[in-house]
Amino acid sequence: MAIIVTGSSGLLGSALVRALRADGTRVVRLVRRAPQGADESFWNPGKGLIDPAALQGAQAVVHLAGAGINDRRWNDDFKREVVRSRVEGTRTLVKALTELPVKPRALLSASAIGFYGDTGDREVDETAPPGAGFLAQDVVVPWEAETVPAEEAGIRVALLRTGLVLSGEGGMLPKLLPIFKLGLGAPLGSGGQYWSWISIDDWVGAVLHILNNQEISGPVNLTAPEPATNAEFTKALGEAVHRPTMPLAVPGFALRTAIGGFAEEGVLTGQRVMPRRLLESGYTFRHTRLSEALAAVL
Ligand SMILES: NC(=O)c1ccc[n+]([C@@H]2O[C@H](COP(=O)([O-])OP(=O)(O)OC[C@H]3O[C@@H](n4cnc5c(N)ncnc54)[C@H](OP(=O)(O)O)[C@@H]3O)[C@@H](O)[C@H]2O)c1
Repeated sequence: MAIIVTGSSGLLGSALVRALRADGTRVVRLVRRAPQGADESFWNPGKGLIDPAALQGAQAVVHLAGAGINDRRWNDDFKREVVRSRVEGTRTLVKALTELPVKPRALLSASAIGFYGDTGDREVDETAPPGAGFLAQDVVVPWEAETVPAEEAGIRVALLRTGLVLSGEGGMLPKLLPIFKLGLGAPLGSGGQYWSWISIDDWVGAVLHILNNQEISGPVNLTAPEPATNAEFTKALGEAVHRPTMPLAVPGFALRTAIGGFAEEGVLTGQRVMPRRLLESGYTFRHTRLSEALAAVL
């Protein structure tokens, strides 16, 4: 039986597909271009187009598709695209799954720790309510809500509330590296905001754990158990590339001017997140310390 993956060309999807295939699992990728071969099937998430035959008989679905949150400067059009690509894509997929005569056992649907808003120093786990702001209220809450019909149809739904994934192949780290290699890395804003990170190996390991553990449903925080403040992150990354970091922080106003709206919610504030569900269900992290995770991925 196959596992269906959407957003499979992305950073997380490609790592997951590699791991599943290495395990001998058959993977069918839902793609937004012409399919190449029997292991791909076309879908158009925005237009509600999907082939039920490709989903029929699947063991589980891992849904990762969505426009990259930080791919472009936030303006109204791009913010709409970030929301639309997630809400409409999830709706298209969930509608098709609920109409199947034989439904997959599980749907693992991407989500983000942006759900919790700015938590300051307060630790949060999966029981915390949603926070304020665009990412929490306009993106994550409606995105997660689209999975409810799948749950009502008896499919086990796990919401992958993912933190900052550390990988040398994409995401935030390769964008920071050139600056740090020049010895120009510096804390951002107050430096006290928490960045709840997870290594790409643990992200993949946690998803496999959730796929294989029938007891896990609902929100699951995919973050390492020791979140770091931005100042700690800066120090650790400087050490990982053997370069000094700047003693003075980059002021918030400079970041807001340089990056735009993402600076406030994605960089200058953060979440101190605990992976309670993963730990309670027996997941063993490969990288609990930031320095070890950075050494492994760089
Ligand atoms: N990486 C992180 O640190 C992180 C943190 C928190 C949450 N997440 C969430 O986890 C999911 C996967 O993350 P990722 O880092 O792998 O993202 P990514 O590299 O940006 O990949 C996302 C994939 O979604 C598809 N996609 C892109 N634009 C789309 C659009 N407009 N409509 C529908 N699909 C579109 C593409 O796959 P196809 O071309 O194959 O369709 C793309 O490769 C995302 O939903 C992301 O928000 C990631």
